Parts: sequence; structure tokens; C-alpha cells
Amino acid sequence: MPEHKIGGSIPELPPDDGSIARFREYAESFKGESVFCDENIDLKEEHTLRVVAETTRLCAAEKIEPRLCAPARCAALLHDLSRFSQFRQSGSFNDARSFDHGDRSAEIAAAEGWVNHLEHRMAEAVLTAVCWHNKPAIPQNLSPDADTLTRIVRDADKLDIFKVLLEHLEHPDNSAVTFSLDPRPEVTPTIAAAIAEGRQAAHRDMRTATDFLAAKLLWPFDLNFAWSRREFLRRDYLGQLMSHLPDDELLRAAAARAAGHCLK
Ligand SMILES: [Fe+2]
Repeated sequence: MPEHKIGGSIPELPPDDGSIARFREYAESFKGESVFCDENIDLKEEHTLRVVAETTRLCAAEKIEPRLCAPARCAALLHDLSRFSQFRQSGSFNDARSFDHGDRSAEIAAAEGWVNHLEHRMAEAVLTAVCWHNKPAIPQNLSPDADTLTRIVRDADKLDIFKVLLEHLEHPDNSAVTFSLDPRPEVTPTIAAAIAEGRQAAHRDMRTATDFLAAKLLWPFDLNFAWSRREFLRRDYLGQLMSHLPDDELLRAAAARAAGHCLK
């Protein structure tokens, strides 16, 4: 095991209904191939449990309807279910090399009965949230419940991905976190243009690890709840990210816009 474990402790998990134990057992079943693979299985297992905890906090802070809180936690628990088979098979979390992990996680959850305890329409809403948690945008035709669950999981996921990313930057011992991109401290022109225009950058256009990090300056614009935006600021995610980016006017301006948006 590495000395520094990315992610750290898992705070404030909700009372366990058995699904967390099932999830842990499922994740562990993909271990045993190599130390590198096992570390990345652990990374996603712990990430998922922290996303469940973030979801619990978001639901409380935003006073989400009580009937949606358990389904939201369920969607959070299932959102990355396919990450374990993905890493075991492809040695990467890069969807371009294997499959869309949101779609595949929803398929596995449906096929393996992870939402059978929910009423049919709520089960569909949970699977929809799993499916759309990683897409560039949320479609406009979702049911109100599916829309709410999708927005919750996307925010909770982003809050924890940032934590994992920043810890990785402090202790860069796992190249899977930044997809083994070119380590040069440069932003490629396509990504710079996206950042300047305030539109989300496409992963396929990223050439350097700096592209990957700089594109994260746009994430606050994709947060759905005021609590999530405040947490971005309270945890100084933008400041910490900037300390790992080149001192560049374009990036400073993007960070200032993102911080301003977090106050809205
Ligand atoms: Fe994901």
C-alpha cells in the first residue's frame, strides 16, 4: 500500500441498510489482479462512499424532499458501479478506451437488482441519475424526480472528485487520476479557447495534464445547488487548484469568474 492513501476518511455515512456492505463486497470482488489495479479499485470504492456522504449533506443543506433522500443516496452509491470492471479490464478510468461508465453503471445496477427495493418509477429515476451523472449536460426531458436526483449526484460527485484530484496533486503517485496525460505545464489552444469562452472543454481535446486541470476551473458553472457552490469556496478548491496551474492571465481570470459564480 502507498504511504499516502488518496481520499482519506469517510465522514457521516447514513445508517446502513445493507446496500453499502453489498457495494463493498462487489468492489472487493474485482481485486487481486495487481497492486496498481487494487489501489484504483480502493480509490473508486472510497470515492463512492464519500459521494454518498456528500449527497447526505447536500440533501440536508438544500432541504431536499425526504422521499427523495434515500433514492439520492442510492444513486450516489451506484453512480460509478462500472468503474471496477472498467479498470480491471482496461487498466484505465478513461471512458474513451472502454465504455461510457455512467451508461454501463446503470445497466449493471438494473441487471443485478440494485434498485429492486424501490418503487418502479423511483427505480427508473435512480437509474437515470446514474446514467446522466457523467454527461456534459443534463437533458431537458427528464421526469422531475430524475432531474433532481441527477443534479444531486452530479454535484456530490464533483465535490469529491475535486478532493481526490487535489490530494493527487499533492501526492502524485497514481497516473490513473490524470489519465497519464502529458505533464507539460501548457494549456493547448483548443482548451484555452473553451476556458476563455466559459464552455466546458471536451476530454478528447485535452493533450496535457494542465489542460485537464485548467478545465476544472469551469466546473463551478455546472454545479446545480447553492450549497455545492459555497462548499467549493469554503474548501478553497479553486485556490488549491490554482496553486498547481501555471501563473497565467487566462487562468487567473477564469478562476476569478468561477469564484464569483460560487457566490451566486
Ligand atoms: Fe463517474
